[in-house]
Amino acid sequence: MYVQIKGLNFKYKNSKEKILKDFTIEIEKGEIISILGESGSGKSTVLRLISGLEVPSSGLIRINDRVIVDNNTFVLPEKRGIGMVFQDYALFPHLTAAQNIKFGLKKLTKKDKNKRLQEVLNLVNLEDFKDRYPYELSGGQQQRVALARALAPSPSLLLLDEPFSNLDADLQCKIREDLRKIIKQTGITSIFVTHDREDSKAIADRVVILKEGQIVRVGKPKDILD
Ligand SMILES: Nc1ncnc2c1ncn2[C@@H]1O[C@H](COP(=O)(O)OP(=O)(O)OP(=O)(O)O)[C@@H](O)[C@H]1O
Ligand SMILES: [Mg+2]
Repeated sequence: MYVQIKGLNFKYKNSKEKILKDFTIEIEKGEIISILGESGSGKSTVLRLISGLEVPSSGLIRINDRVIVDNNTFVLPEKRGIGMVFQDYALFPHLTAAQNIKFGLKKLTKKDKNKRLQEVLNLVNLEDFKDRYPYELSGGQQQRVALARALAPSPSLLLLDEPFSNLDADLQCKIREDLRKIIKQTGITSIFVTHDREDSKAIADRVVILKEGQIVRVGKPKDILD
């Protein structure tokens, strides 16, 4: 298995009850997992723990045989090699699409940066829009910039938090398929969270149903959502 999450428990400082209870899942390399649950069920919290924005009270997370958090270990977020696409895309408004994408590539030479930029622009089909600012792009285009920015440093794991929440219904349907295609093309292991069953059906290889911080079912979309 490529990602192992075992017995994760978590509570925010000012919350009375546990937000996550014994969250456990193993993910294969290249697999797309969706975490499906109602608002407040703890979906974003799972992603915050994996990316290192929060520390679990107990449990273990391992990626590609490297423990990133357990009782004795805490790898800093920027050292985890995890890409993240946020609900609101979180693009830098004063940077163009190309500059946003290159932001995460600080360590590369100028030549390598531009090469990688071309590759990911190609992947998300945005070559013609690279010099536009976020406000000059549609919601769907902004989402693809955010995806390209997350993919550019070739992360070991991609996390997406409700990637369609800002798109209208028509666009959402089209982009679902594009997103699955793009992710599968890169072969990157991914976890995306949503409250929308149709998102899970269209994109995920496997679905985890989360209820009040607890996993209640795991399975293929066709087996547990139809
Ligand atoms: N910083 C915080 N401090 C205290 N409680 C929090 C904090 N952030 C979230 N919570 C609580 O933790 C629970 C889970 O929140 P989380 O954001 O993980 O839910 P979610 O499933 O992502 O919901 P949504 O679909 O609305 O985004 C909620 O009850 C929320 O109120
Ligand atoms: Mg959330």
